[in-house]
This record gives sequence, C-alpha cells and structure tokens, in this order.
Amino acid sequence: MASLSAFQLNVFLILAFAVTAFSALSPYYYDHVCPKALPTIKRVVEAAVFNERRMGGSLLRLHFHDCFVNGCDASLLLDSTSTIDSEKNSLANNNSARGFEVIDQIKNEVDKICGRPVVSCADILAVAARDSVVADSIIEFERNCNRPERYDRNLAENTLKAIKKIDLIRVAREERHHSKRMVGKKSKEHT
Ligand code: HEM
Repeated sequence: MASLSAFQLNVFLILAFAVTAFSALSPYYYDHVCPKALPTIKRVVEAAVFNERRMGGSLLRLHFHDCFVNGCDASLLLDSTSTIDSEKNSLANNNSARGFEVIDQIKNEVDKICGRPVVSCADILAVAARDSVVADSIIEFERNCNRPERYDRNLAENTLKAIKKIDLIRVAREERHHSKRMVGKKSKEHT
C-alpha cells in the first residue's frame, strides 16, 4: 500500500513537472509550434519602421503600456464596448498609443502563415517591441560601445544661472517695450 502511494506521488510529481515545463516561457516556443511566426513578425515590423521611423518607438511603447496594467496580457488591444471602458481608450492611451494597425497586420499574417491562430497577441506585442528596437538603428545599445563620459558636473547650476539671465533679459525687454508704447501714446495725445 505504502509503495503504491509512493508510486502515485511519483506520477503526480512527473505530471506536475511536465505541465510546468510546457507552460514555462521560452524563446524557442514557436520553433516547434510555428517556425515561421517570429520571422514574419520581424518582417512586418521592419517594413513598418522603414515606412515610418517613429513606429519603432510606438511599438516599444505599446508593449510597455500593455504590461503596465496587470501584466503583459494583450488587454491593451481590446476595444471598448457599451459596458466596458477598455485600456485602449483610457486617458493614457486614447489618441496617444499608436501602432495598433501594425499589430493587426502582424496578427493577420502570422495566422495565415501558421495556418491557425497559434501566436498569442501578448507574444506579438512583446516580439514586435523587441524587433522594433533592433529595426530602429538609433537604438544600438549593444552594438555601439566605447562611449566617452562627457558629463558636466556644473550643468544644473549653469542651466539655472542661464534661466535667471534669460528672465532678466525678458523683463528688461518688456519694460523697454512698455515705455516705448507709452511714449508713442503721449506723443499722439500731444498732436
Ligand atoms: C510611467 C512611466 C512613463 C510615463 C508617465 C510615460 C509618459 C509618456 C508620454 C506622456 C508620452 C507622450 C505621449 C504623446 O505624445 O501622446 C510618452 C511617449 C513615449 N514613451 Fe513613455 N512614459 C513612461 C514610460 C515609458 C517607458 C518605460 C518606455 C519604454 C519602454 C516609454 C517609451 C515611450 C516612447 C517610445 C514614446 C514615444 C511614442 C511615439 O512616438 O509613438 N515610456 N511617454
């Protein structure tokens, strides 16, 4: 009886391990499920960034905004309904978050190439963000090294001094402007 329960325990542990292993995140997950999925995302992202440089940042931001509320779950992509105010239309995103049409295009192309909807929208947002950072050549954190340190310790102090100086100049200008207007008014009154 005791050996049977040990056996049952072993089976349970093996099953639990298998379930955990299969549900774990992996960079190679789609290699088996649909090997063309990630190259397709990359191709669409590169075309979008090539078409409009700003799109790289916009796609990165979409991923951040998706993850900010309750984790990276693609909730950002949901439209509002009569009963639900979606994240998409919230104050932080409405008329500000952009690139949804690129995500829609990726979803369509990936579903087509995989033959079925196997790639989650949350994964599409994450992979698109990754690829957009690579596609935008401005963001070359890893490739460009040998950065010199050129910081200016007195920058904040000098900036504050400059702001004060600009204020003095502005006030002096305004005073000159007003005194000239008054002169004009006085001379008109005399004629
Ligand atoms: C809580 C922290 C953050 C706040 C409050 C914030 C706020 C903002 C605001 C107000 C804008 C301008 C939106 C507009 O013009 O409509 C913006 C743009 C942007 N943010 Fe953030 N941001 C935050 C964090 C981040 C992070 C972590 C990233 C990168 C992962 C990021 C990436 C961007 C990008 C790329 C844009 C420009 C998007 C575009 O041109 O379409 N932001 N952010």
